[in-house]
Amino acid sequence: MTVAITLAYLAAAVLFILGLKQLSSPKGARNGNFTAAAGMVIALIATIPLLRFTAAGAAIIGIGVVIGGIVGTVGARMVKMTAIPQMVALFNGVGGGAAALVAVAELLHFGNHPAFTVAFPSVFSIVIGSISFAGSMVAFAKLQELMTGTPITYPSQQLVNGLLAAAIVGFVIAVLAIASVPFSYLSLMILALVLGVAFVLPIGGADMPVVISLLNAFTGLAVAASGFTLNNFALIVAGTLVGASGSLLTKLMSDAMGRSLANVLFGAFGQLHKGGAAAAGKEGRSVRSASAEDLGTLLAYSRRVIIVPGYGLAVAQAQHAVRELAELLEKRGVEVSYAIHPVAGRMPGHMNVLLAEANVPYEQLKEMDEINDEFKNADVVLVVGANDVVNPAARSSPGSPIYGMPILNADQAKNIVFMKRSMRPGFAGIDNELLYDPKTIMFFGDAKDSLTKLVNAVKAA
Ligand code: TAP
Repeated sequence: MTVAITLAYLAAAVLFILGLKQLSSPKGARNGNFTAAAGMVIALIATIPLLRFTAAGAAIIGIGVVIGGIVGTVGARMVKMTAIPQMVALFNGVGGGAAALVAVAELLHFGNHPAFTVAFPSVFSIVIGSISFAGSMVAFAKLQELMTGTPITYPSQQLVNGLLAAAIVGFVIAVLAIASVPFSYLSLMILALVLGVAFVLPIGGADMPVVISLLNAFTGLAVAASGFTLNNFALIVAGTLVGASGSLLTKLMSDAMGRSLANVLFGAFGQLHKGGAAAAGKEGRSVRSASAEDLGTLLAYSRRVIIVPGYGLAVAQAQHAVRELAELLEKRGVEVSYAIHPVAGRMPGHMNVLLAEANVPYEQLKEMDEINDEFKNADVVLVVGANDVVNPAARSSPGSPIYGMPILNADQAKNIVFMKRSMRPGFAGIDNELLYDPKTIMFFGDAKDSLTKLVNAVKAA
C-alpha cells in the first residue's frame, strides 16, 4: 500500500510540474490547469487510505469538502475577469490559514515539548500561514473595495512592522527552546495575524497583484512546512512548487513594472502619486482628435496595424469588439497583431486571458520583446484602454514613478490612435506626453462603443 501511495504521489508531482510548464504559454494554459487538477485529484485519492478518523471526523471532513467544493465552483464560475485578483487572494488566504491550523492541530496532538523535527516546521507553518491568511484578507478587502484601496500609512510604520517581525522571531525561538504549550501557539498566531494585516495596509490597491503573488508564495512555503510536519511527500512537493513559482512571478511582475520588490512592498505607491489624476490635462494643452469615419478610413487603407490592449479594454469588456475589428481589417489585407506588455491590465496574463476568451488567434499575440522593433513599420498603432505601458516617461523622465519600466515602442509608429474616455492618467497617476504627440489622434469614449463605431466605419470605407 505504501509503495502504491508513493507512486501515486510521484505521478501527482509529475502532473503538477507538467501543468506548470503548460501554464507558461497562453496556448497551453487551459490544459495546464486540467493537468495540475488531475495531479491534485490523484494526490487526494491516494491520501484517503492514510487517514485515520472516527465517524464524526469523517462527517466533518465530508461536510467541509461539500461546502468548499460548492463555494469554489460557484465562486470561480461567477467571478468577473477583473475580479480574479481578489478571488485568488481569498482562495490563497484560506490555504495559508488552513496550513497554520493543521500545524496547530499537529502540535496539540504531540503534546508539550514535541520533537524539534515536528515543532520547527509547525511553528514556521503557523507564522507564515497566518501572515498569508491575514494579508490576503486585507488584499481581498482592498480590491473588493470593502475598504480604501489606497495605502494606509502612519509615522514610523516600517519600524512598527519591523518590531512586530522581531517579536515573532523572538517568540518562535522561545517556543522552540523553552515552552511548547497551546497558549504559546495561539499567541504566535495572533502576532503573525497582526503582522499580516500591518504588512499589507501600506500597499496601494493596484500593487496588490504583486503582493498577492508574494503571499501565494508564502502559502506554498507554509504548506510545504506542513508536509514536513505530517511527513507527507505530496504536500512538500506541491507547497514547494507554489512557493517557487509564486516567488518567481513576484520578481517578474516587479521587474516588468520597472520597480524593485522593496519599492512595491514598502513604497506606499498609490499614495505618493494620488494627485496625478487631477494634475493630468490641467495645463489645458490641446490634443488632436478625429471622427470614427476618418479613423475607419485610416485603418482600412493601412498595411500594418498594431493593437496595444490595456486595462481599459478589460474594464469595457471590449475584447470581442477588438477581435471583430481586427478580423475585418485582415479581410481587407491589413496585417494585424497585438502587442502584449507583461503588466498591461491588473494581473499577470490579463490581456492574454481576455483576448483568448474572444478567440483571438494566439499567433497574433506578440510579447513586448518580440514586437518592439516592429512599431516603426506600423502605419497605425491602436492603443485600446492602455496608458502606462506606452508612456515614454518610462524612458525619458528619471523622476517619474515608472522610470525604468520597459515600455512598448508605440511612439515609433506612423500614426497613434488612443482610445480612452478622457485625458485621465492610468494606474501610475502620471500624465502621458504621447497623448500630445503630433502623430497622436485621440478617439474619446468607452472602448467597446468606440470599437463598434470603428467596425462600422471600416465596413463603410
Ligand atoms: P493603465 O495605465 O492603468 O491605463 C488604463 C487606461 O484605460 C486609463 O488611462 C483609462 O483612461 C482607460 N480606460 C479605463 N476604462 C476605460 C474604458 N471603459 N474604455 C476606454 N478606456 C478606458 O493601464 P495599462 O496601460 O494596461 O498599464 C497597467 C498599469 O497597471 C501599469 O502601470 C502596471 O504597472 C500596473 N499594474 C499591473 C499589474 C499587472 S500584473 N498587470 C499589476 C499591478 C499594477 P480613461 O479613464 O481616460 O478612460
